[in-house]
Amino acid sequence: MSDKTKMQIKKNGSIRVTGEVDFVDADGKVLETKTDFSLCRCGHSKEKPFCDGSHRDAGFVAE
Ligand code: FES
Repeated sequence: MSDKTKMQIKKNGSIRVTGEVDFVDADGKVLETKTDFSLCRCGHSKEKPFCDGSHRDAGFVAE
């Protein structure tokens, strides 16, 4: 099994990130480290940049 962090585009939904990621500010300071989360790509989440499931109610359809 690979130790690489993986980003998977979900059909008509979020970008699923599996693995550990550092969130870094403009000065390079690590603000937070998260493991296994989903990023919003529909624009409807109230918890951006994370997916809160709003894409389902919004009827998000990706090209
Ligand atoms: S992709 Fe899930 S709320 Fe935007």
